[in-house]
Amino acid sequence: MRIPRSVTRGVTPRVPAPRSRPPRLRAHRTATAALLAALLAVGVTACGQEARGGSRYKPSGGEGGVIGLAMPTKSSERWIADGENMAEQFRKAGYETDLQYGDDKVENQIAQIENMITKGRRLLVIAAIDGSALTEVLRQAEDAGIPVISYDRLIMGSQHVDYYASFDNERVGELQARYIVDRLELGKPAKGGSESHSIELFAGSPDDNNTKYFWNGAMKVLRPYFASGRLVVRSKQTRMNQATTLRWDGGTAQKRMDDLISKNYGEERVDAVLSPYDGISIGIISALKSAGYGGKDRPLPIVTGQDAELASVKSILRGEQTQTVFKDTRKLAAQAVAMGDAVLDGRRPEVNNTTDYHNGRKAVPSFLLDPVSIDKSNTQLLVREGYFTAGQLT
Ligand code: GAL
Repeated sequence: MRIPRSVTRGVTPRVPAPRSRPPRLRAHRTATAALLAALLAVGVTACGQEARGGSRYKPSGGEGGVIGLAMPTKSSERWIADGENMAEQFRKAGYETDLQYGDDKVENQIAQIENMITKGRRLLVIAAIDGSALTEVLRQAEDAGIPVISYDRLIMGSQHVDYYASFDNERVGELQARYIVDRLELGKPAKGGSESHSIELFAGSPDDNNTKYFWNGAMKVLRPYFASGRLVVRSKQTRMNQATTLRWDGGTAQKRMDDLISKNYGEERVDAVLSPYDGISIGIISALKSAGYGGKDRPLPIVTGQDAELASVKSILRGEQTQTVFKDTRKLAAQAVAMGDAVLDGRRPEVNNTTDYHNGRKAVPSFLLDPVSIDKSNTQLLVREGYFTAGQLT
C-alpha cells in the first residue's frame, strides 16, 4: 500500500548505538587479535562450515569505503527505516553508504546494483524486489570481488550470496496464525459440538522468498482446524498461489477482499483474515469497511499483519487491525552492519542458522532474529523499546 509521504515522514524508529567497533579501534588491531581471527577462521572452516567471507574479502590495507545499500521501495515506512538505520550504523562503523531504492521495479534495482558495481562499492547489502531476478547482476559482483549480504529477503538462484540477515520468517506466520487460533478460542472444545468460524487467507508477493515461509508457518498452525472443520475458508481459496499479493500491494489486496466478500459472504460474516503484512491489512480493512463491517451488528474480523508500521499500530489502538508482528528494523540493520563489517575486516560473521535458507544453489549462512506478536494489549512495548515515542501512538 502506498503510504503518503506525510505519514512516513518523521516516523523512522530511533537508532540504537551501533554494535561495531569504531574505526580507530580497527586501525589499531593488535597482532594478537589478527592471529586469533585467523585461527578462528581456520577452525570454523575446518568444522566444514561456510568458508566465504574470510581472507577472500580482507581489505588490502585501507579502511572504510562505500557500501551499496539496495532497498526495494519507499512506499512502506519499514524500508525507509531499514535503509536509514543501516546508513547511519555503517557510518558509525567508519563507512560511507550509497543508499538506493528501486521503486518496486525489478529493472530499477538491477540498474542500481550494476551502477554500484561499476562505482566499486566494497560490499552490497540487498533487499531484493524479485528474489530470483538478480543472478546475472550478482555474477558481475562476483567478478568484481564484491561480497553480498542478502537483507531480510533471500536472494535466490545465485552462488554469490555470502550471508543472509533476517527474522525467523516461519515463526512470523506461526505468530499470526496462533493469534487467530487463540482469539477464536479454537483450542477449547466447540460449544454445541460443531461451532465453526470463517477465515480468508492472504499471502505475500509470489516473487519474495519470504512469502512461502510466512505461509507455511501459518498453515502449520491452521491446518488441524481446517481438517476438524472448526475453521472454514468459504471462498475455498486455500492454496498459496490463490492468495498471493503481487509486490505486497495494499490496493491489490483490497480488490481481492472486495471480491471475496461479494462472492462468498451474504448474510454470513467473515470472522478472521490471515494477512501477512500491514500494508495488505490496511487494504483488507478498507474492503471490509466498504462492505459494512466495523459497526455493532457487524464487527470487523480479526485481521493480522506484520512490520508494526505506525499506521497499523494506530489502527490496532483504534480497534481496527487486530494484530501485527514487530520486527525491529534497527536490530536487523545492526546485524547486517556487523556482518558486513566482519566480512570486510576478514572476520567471520556470527550466524545462527546454516541449513534452513537454501537459495537453490547453496544453503546461505544466516542470522535470524526473533519476531514479536503485538496487539492492543502490548503496543506499549514499542514505546519501551524506543521504536516509537508515546506521542506517535496517541
Ligand atoms: C517482506 C518482509 C516483510 C514485509 C514485506 C513487505 O519481505 O519480510 O516484513 O516488509 O516484505 O514489504
